[in-house]
Amino acid sequence: MADLETEVSRRRTFAIIAHPDAGKTTLTEKLLLFGGAIQLAGAVKARGEQRRARSDWMKVERERGISVTASVMTFDYRGCTFNLLDTPGHEDFSEDTYRTLTAVDSAVMVIDAAKGIESQTRKLFEACRLRDVPIVTFVNKLDREGREPFDLISEIEQTLALDITPASWPIGMGKSFKGCYDLFNDRLVMFERGGTQGEASLKIEGLDDPKLATTLREDEVQRLRDDVEMARGLMPQFDLASYREGHLSPVYFGSAVNNFGVGELLAGLAEMAPPPRPQPTTTRAVEPTEDKLTGFVFKIQANMDPKHRDRIAFVRLCSGKFRRGMKALHVRSAKQLNLHNPVLFLAQDRELAEEAYAGDILGVPNHGNLRIGDTLTEGEQLQFTGIPSFAPEHLQSVRADDPLRAKHLGKALEQLAEEGAARVFRPLIGTDWIVGVVGALQFEILADRIRTEYGLPVRFEPTSLYTARWVEADEPAELKRFLDASRASIGDDHNGDPVFLARNAWHLDRAAEDYPKIRFLKTKEQN
Ligand code: G4P
Repeated sequence: MADLETEVSRRRTFAIIAHPDAGKTTLTEKLLLFGGAIQLAGAVKARGEQRRARSDWMKVERERGISVTASVMTFDYRGCTFNLLDTPGHEDFSEDTYRTLTAVDSAVMVIDAAKGIESQTRKLFEACRLRDVPIVTFVNKLDREGREPFDLISEIEQTLALDITPASWPIGMGKSFKGCYDLFNDRLVMFERGGTQGEASLKIEGLDDPKLATTLREDEVQRLRDDVEMARGLMPQFDLASYREGHLSPVYFGSAVNNFGVGELLAGLAEMAPPPRPQPTTTRAVEPTEDKLTGFVFKIQANMDPKHRDRIAFVRLCSGKFRRGMKALHVRSAKQLNLHNPVLFLAQDRELAEEAYAGDILGVPNHGNLRIGDTLTEGEQLQFTGIPSFAPEHLQSVRADDPLRAKHLGKALEQLAEEGAARVFRPLIGTDWIVGVVGALQFEILADRIRTEYGLPVRFEPTSLYTARWVEADEPAELKRFLDASRASIGDDHNGDPVFLARNAWHLDRAAEDYPKIRFLKTKEQN
């Protein structure tokens, strides 16, 4: 038991959220470098624009040692085991990203010092806030001219309605960037362009320490004293509880590409970031130190290894101890599942998992029996909650180029839907499948996947549909009355749940007015 508690308390499972180009990939790479998980910079990175170019995206995914959407990276640092869950880097809204955030205990928000809060930062932040995920902020690119720290901080506070405490304070910026004052440890950390991991740092006794003058100019020392005094006066003191509740974010300043500020950030995460939290289920909260294994599937990835057609289900462990070879109850199907060869994700290689604890992510190979939102236990009937499905914003019909292969297409679509890559609806009337996604870019990705993974060239075509809503009612008779009267606009999703396919906003409003007892749902919990 003590073993379990120790293992759980040293887990830090987190994600990095950022607007594209803020430096998420660079920071990821540096974190792995500091954590000793990779030897060389460049291992994680498929560079900038190329990585995001639409047509290249799938190819890049396949060719990279670490896949953009797939990656979970595990490394140790200062006695902690970090699980860094990567979120897809493209600009399109992706459900995968949101679901990944249901599997982390905290997040690092990277902001470009010249740009401040950008659209994607904001969306991702809101997704974290839904679950009160604690956030550490990293203001990046201090080696370039950017905005004043006070200005940036006030923007973060105001646009995100979040309290901020500076963990470090920058001295100068761009060409005159000298380093940071570490407010938590009273250290001066000097900046070195292209610096390695061991930045020169000077332990000082507060800001009046005469040692400051040995490394900084007099005007720099004065400015630093004034800034820090003002920052301390204006901003709340660091408060661990407030951070862990998601109300306050400590802010680090740095330059990822120059390895600067990364060590402080990691040390901060080791010290402050929460270990695994209790996880809600439909019946009770599961404590991470309970001795029976539990976990949930938050993501399915097809073809991570091109040699196999298996799919990998990413399972976030919520309690207990996993040992290789054990069996788990797959609650939805009530079947025992052999966990023969699950994988753990070390930065460059996937390796067979021998043991794992709450907070760790297991990759479980399977042939499609595991779905997003599924719960695994050692026998208890539990269902973890909070893994959302979103009503698609874009709906298109899809057809196989070869009409004789319509059946194969149906199978492919069903699998993609189970994986959570898209919503697939079968209208009660008509033969076409309707595919719904939350970001339009996903149609291209889907077409590419159906072609390469299932050998089926397909065409997506626009429809006159506006949106889809899951429908439910307390009284089954009421639901039936609605479904019967609206047959032309009803479809089933891959679980067989009824969906209302609205032609336009008016159509949806009208249905809601005519059938006040029907609930039109924008999100549905998996299963
Ligand atoms: P992303 O994953 O958030 O999209 O960002 P990524 O790490 O790819 O970084 C975006 C660009 O910002 C990259 O430049 C990267 O080198 C640069 N960058 C990251 N951190 C810093 C920093 O601390 N200072 C400065 N000045 N630049 C930084 P790129 O031109 O797109 O690619 P590259 O060829 O330079 O790598």
